[in-house]
Amino acid sequence: MSASQPPSTTSSEDRKKVTIHLIEAMKTRHEIISMLTAYDYPTALVMDQVGMDIILVGDSLGMVVLGYDSTLPVTMDEMIHHCKAVARGAKYALLVGDMPFLSYQISTTEAVRNAGRFLQEGGMNAVKLEGGSERVETIRAIINAGIPVMGHLGLTPQSVFKLGGYRPQGRDADAAYKLVEDAMILQEAGCFSLVLESIPGRLAQLVSQRLHIPTLGIGAGAGCDGQVLVTHDLLGIFERFTPRFVKRYANLAGTMREAFSEFKTEVKANTFPGGEHTVEMDDDEWRRLEERIAQGN
Ligand code: KIV
Repeated sequence: MSASQPPSTTSSEDRKKVTIHLIEAMKTRHEIISMLTAYDYPTALVMDQVGMDIILVGDSLGMVVLGYDSTLPVTMDEMIHHCKAVARGAKYALLVGDMPFLSYQISTTEAVRNAGRFLQEGGMNAVKLEGGSERVETIRAIINAGIPVMGHLGLTPQSVFKLGGYRPQGRDADAAYKLVEDAMILQEAGCFSLVLESIPGRLAQLVSQRLHIPTLGIGAGAGCDGQVLVTHDLLGIFERFTPRFVKRYANLAGTMREAFSEFKTEVKANTFPGGEHTVEMDDDEWRRLEERIAQGN
């Protein structure tokens, strides 16, 4: 099968929707979990065709799609708008909506209401939020409302100013110990999985071994239970900066530049559209039109 064709090995009848229980079971079975971000319908459709386990509508939306300098300006309404598009495209992957800055930090009531919007309006199956022990009460309240929560530790981009930049976390023993503690606390609070972003590989491996819930690493080495990347980084669409841990699987910005520039050249030279791109009237109708125009004169 060529990579450009939808997979045909799994017919839609025997394909099952991925649930949080399946994700937890994958850890027990030592099956590595795949997760990518998506923000629109066509991307979600293709990810579902290749059998991605989890699709995250990340608040990275703000940087790679909306052009903000950080994830901080992203609003609930922007997230919901993009979640809806992803949910229309993906029928099988587990869909996780990322709670934006200040949608869960102010009060547990607001957090539960906003988390609920991801399921009720956005068509998501779970939410993700950033932070450790300071989030326990919020996480418990959201889970009590029946909403599964994915945690996120290490480099938490919504705290970029507190962290002093997008830099690796947990590199000294004290910070690493706190991260292990936080991971245990999030598991205890009921999170079904945990993103570990930009932390040393052996720390991520230690956390993954200690937890019974799966870890999803981004810049955290191969010892996690699954891996996640920001799709626009992986595809080479977002060129403003690329974290060291990103592997570029394509250069779509280059492909887009070539296509846009070819279109522009052909338009200027009047070689596009050609006959094959143009609808024509049949000759009889054309003659009738000419006659009517002549009579009108
Ligand atoms: O917003 C996002 O895309 C994320 C991933 C980096 C995990 O949180």
